[in-house]
Amino acid sequence: MTSRNQAFRGSFLHCTDNPAVAGAEAVHFIEDGMLVIEDGHVVALTNAVQANMPANTPVHDYRGKWIVPGFVDCHVHYPQVDVMACHGTQLLDWLNNYTFPAEQAFSDQAIATETAAFFLEQLLANGTTTALVFGTVHKASVNAFFAEAKQRKLRMICGKVMMDRNAPEGLCDTPLSSYEDSKALINQWHGQDRLGYAVTPRFAPTSSGEQLALAGQLLDEHPNVHLHTHLSENPDECEWVKTLFPDQSDYLGVYEQHGLVRKRSMFAHAIHLSTSEWSRLNHANASVAHCPCSNLFIGSGLFDWRAASSVNVPVGFGTDVGGGDSMSLLRAANEAYKIQQLQNVSLDPLTLFYTATLGGAVALDLDKHIGNFETGKEADFIVLEPDATPLLARRMRASNDWQSSLFALTMLGDDRCIHDTFILGESSKRSTTTR
Ligand code: GUN
Ligand code: ZN
Repeated sequence: MTSRNQAFRGSFLHCTDNPAVAGAEAVHFIEDGMLVIEDGHVVALTNAVQANMPANTPVHDYRGKWIVPGFVDCHVHYPQVDVMACHGTQLLDWLNNYTFPAEQAFSDQAIATETAAFFLEQLLANGTTTALVFGTVHKASVNAFFAEAKQRKLRMICGKVMMDRNAPEGLCDTPLSSYEDSKALINQWHGQDRLGYAVTPRFAPTSSGEQLALAGQLLDEHPNVHLHTHLSENPDECEWVKTLFPDQSDYLGVYEQHGLVRKRSMFAHAIHLSTSEWSRLNHANASVAHCPCSNLFIGSGLFDWRAASSVNVPVGFGTDVGGGDSMSLLRAANEAYKIQQLQNVSLDPLTLFYTATLGGAVALDLDKHIGNFETGKEADFIVLEPDATPLLARRMRASNDWQSSLFALTMLGDDRCIHDTFILGESSKRSTTTR
């Protein structure tokens, strides 16, 4: 018999606001806490001794472990798992040599389904419960992804890539077909269970102005969907955009011209931006995904965290698999810290944790549903094992307080620290066979 109520006991950590703005009080650590949920949603998080719940509520005892909100990956390509860790190139050659050839296979629904299932199981194994995901140009790739996400009851956003030029013929659509395919996918999937759609022009170089204009039209016609694309990742890419769109004074201007810069727009990378572009992102209420593992792996550049925070543009972490070499947001936080160290910026451990959880939810405009343990939120969370390895266990013993434990866990941790991932209060281990 399954109960509508369940409780979880352990150490809890979550944010109720951005600690960089609201201060350290925005982050709550409850050493011995009790989370009560009903029908997959949070009823209350309190100290264990104060917990108030119906008699006979089953209690899952995770004392000694940390329970935190599920991680949010703000930029990732599910069809690129097989091009992770390909050697030797930067963005434009990497796309031509590895990525475009791999994406051609996704016209085949069976390949798309098998890859989507593998990818989602890997996300869960890494503690990621929500992601903003690129499909390929093929409608089948998005149908397969949403079907697999729905089966797992996940909160996921995905979209069909729109690209009508500067790519192999087998990967090109047309402005009209991309508009019609995207519209059909929106009508089929957006708002179904916890699924959302993102209009997904790949990046300015692979779309004509006509196609970008139709992407803007899709956003006008469906105001609640997301926009997902790449922006100013690599210096050669930025130079190319100047030659392809000579009338625009900068890269962001190309997207602005076509109505793509607005609330619920997510721009991946955003490395080589001017002060004016940062300020315009802010005024448009748009967000950026910082993808540190990818930026280092394909040598794109160092993200300017100071610029983003000085204009209050919401920043989430993206793994950007397959440009990124890890699916773990703990690894992303680790590399983000180091990228700022190289620029003489010391990122606060609380900010790193916020960015991987509530900050990602805010950047995706999903914070009314996910990101922390406030009453009514969806109970997507992770049980973290801070002493999962001998090294971690030793390092934890050397920590004097939870803040230093958190930082050490963030720097040294990876999927080995994810004891279990819960979706709407249900263990994802129970139903999975491929982890
Ligand atoms: N820019 C355009 N397409 C891609 C992609 O697939 N990955 C990354 N990292 N950047 C891109
Ligand atoms: Zn990407």
